[in-house]
Order: sequence, then structure tokens, then C-alpha cells
Amino acid sequence: MIELVAQAETMREVVRLALRVASTDANVLITGESGTGKDVLAHLIHARSSRSANELVKIDCASLPSELLEAELFGYERGAFTGATEAKPGRFEAAHKGTLLLDEIAHLSTDAQAKLLRVIERREFERLGGRRTIKVDARLIALTNVELEDAVKRRSFREDLFYRLNVVRLHLPPLRERREDVPELTERFLKMYAAKHGRRANALTPAALAAFTAYDFPGNVRELANTIERAVIVSSGQRIEADDLPDSLHAAIAFQKRRTRRQTLAELEADYIKETLAAAKGNKSEAARLLGISRKNLYEKLARYGEGVGVRVKGVEKNDER
Ligand SMILES: Nc1ncnc2c1ncn2[C@@H]1O[C@H](COP(=O)(O)OP(=O)(O)O)[C@@H](O)[C@H]1O
Ligand SMILES: [Mg+2]
Repeated sequence: MIELVAQAETMREVVRLALRVASTDANVLITGESGTGKDVLAHLIHARSSRSANELVKIDCASLPSELLEAELFGYERGAFTGATEAKPGRFEAAHKGTLLLDEIAHLSTDAQAKLLRVIERREFERLGGRRTIKVDARLIALTNVELEDAVKRRSFREDLFYRLNVVRLHLPPLRERREDVPELTERFLKMYAAKHGRRANALTPAALAAFTAYDFPGNVRELANTIERAVIVSSGQRIEADDLPDSLHAAIAFQKRRTRRQTLAELEADYIKETLAAAKGNKSEAARLLGISRKNLYEKLARYGEGVGVRVKGVEKNDER
């Protein structure tokens, strides 16, 4: 079981509330962008509940077409549909006395929503094609990365079901709104992936750390984890260098800076030349080609913008007059 990082005050508040409700039977709705840790939090709630000796059963409502999803959820009797050669209990039964985790709840079909509501209200159901009533006691935790209220307004999600699920709501803020969590998450993932891949990397250079601090992580904690795993794999030494981070991250940072700083056209040109030179590893002929200008023109611009644009790239400098 992963230990949940919560340094940011907003996160601590969420975790405190989660621990308070864990011991109750209340249904919980966890909201938050993809990769913010909804699964982790759901596992924590189950682990700290009186149901922890029983199963935490997960079903992803977006992964299956409607009929298959209902068969998975409620199970079926032999002959319920073509191909149902054997009876099969569903996830609801498996979650008896435990917790049922409904991921991507907004994707639940209208039919399945009606059935789910009935199970919540009556605490019993029948398998597909079955007559026997099965009693079930499962705590529900639903996850979503969309605003369910909007889905209710659009009438794609039942309001009555929404209220049944939304007894306690826990919202996980995106990582860009809790940057205090980045250092500890980074440290945690570094250890984990270095061990996994047998690498020595155990720290970030200041430049790499600065890149992490400036970046927005649209994919949240999952993206941070993937970025670190990749960096650990490609890095050769003990420290992760800015160069070990993907180009997309550098490009996004450059773009954010540009948007927030309100540069003059000349500054923008100087920066772009600098980035292009870096991409060309300091080779000016190559940079001129990428910029669509002559080498002579590039030299003129470099002279005009001064040393600030000069890029020194270790080991390739000598090649730059090629
Ligand atoms: N607060 C956290 N502490 C430690 N690891 C986390 C945290 N939040 C997310 N993770 C990790 O990030 C990844 C994505 O988390 P997950 O719970 O699957 O996100 P979601 O369900 O919101 O898409 C997982 O590998 C998870 O272990
Ligand atoms: Mg998830």
C-alpha cells in the first residue's frame, strides 16, 4: 500500500476529513482531475474502515459497454443471455461487507444508474436473468473527474442517484494548486523508481528542480511519477539533470513564461534563438537552418542581442563552426 503524501494544507484537510468518515458507512464521492490520487484516497478510506478485513472491489464504469458492465456489477444466472453458460456472481456480491469502488461514475448508463439506485435504496438485488433476491451490504465510493452537478443539469446523470452517492464529498486539488507536495512526492518516486530499475539517481539538480517547480503538471501526480520514472531510466549519474526531463516539459515551461511575462518582440526573438541553439546543441549552421535564416543573418542577430543569447554546450562547442 502506497503512503499518501499530503504536505499542502488543502490536502491535509482532505485527508483529515477522509479519516473522519472512513469509520462510518457513509457513501463517499471523490472528485478531482485525472491523476490527483482519487484511487489512493479510496484505498485509504477502505483500509481505515471497519470493512478493511473484507474486499475492496473496483469497477471502472468507463471500461465496458453498458450490458457488460451490468453483468459485471450485478452478476448473472446461467442462460441470462447468449454466452452465459454458467452463473456468475457480480462485483456487488464480491464487495459484500466490504467496499465497492465505482471509478468514472459519470459514464454509467441510464439503465445501470436506475439499477444502482435501486440497490442502494433496497440493499438487495437480483442477478441478471435471476429471481433470487440477494442481500448486499457494501459501502460505495464513487470517483469522477467531471462535475457531476453539470451532468445532473444536462440530465445525463440522475439527480436522486447523485444525492445518494454525494453523502460525503472529498475534492482533490490539482497538483499545480498544491506545489508544496511536489518535493516530497519527487523524493518518494525517486526512491521507488531507482530501486525498481536498479539505478543510483537519488536527487535532482537545482535546474531540474526549478523545472518541476515551474511546470503545471496537467496530468497531476501520475504525470510527475511517470516523468521521474523516465528520468531515472535515462539518467546516467546520481542526480537527475534538466536534460533528463522530456522536451514537452521544457516547451511547456517556456510557453508559460512567455505568456505571463509579456515580452517585446525582440526579447521573444532572442529567446527563440536561444532555444533553437540549445536544440541544435550549439551548432549555428543547424540553428540557422531550423530558424529559416542564413548563417550570416544569425551571426548578426547574435551580435545584436549580445552574450545573453550565447549558448555554451559542453563538448560540442568546437563543432559549432562546421
Ligand atoms: N498523494 C499521493 N501520494 C502518493 N502517491 C500518489 C498521491 N496521489 C497520487 N499518487 C500516485 O499517482 C498515481 C495516480 O494516482 P490515482 O489515485 O490513480 O489518480 P486518479 O485515480 O485520480 O486518476 C498513482 O500511481 C498513485 O500511487
Ligand atoms: Mg484512477
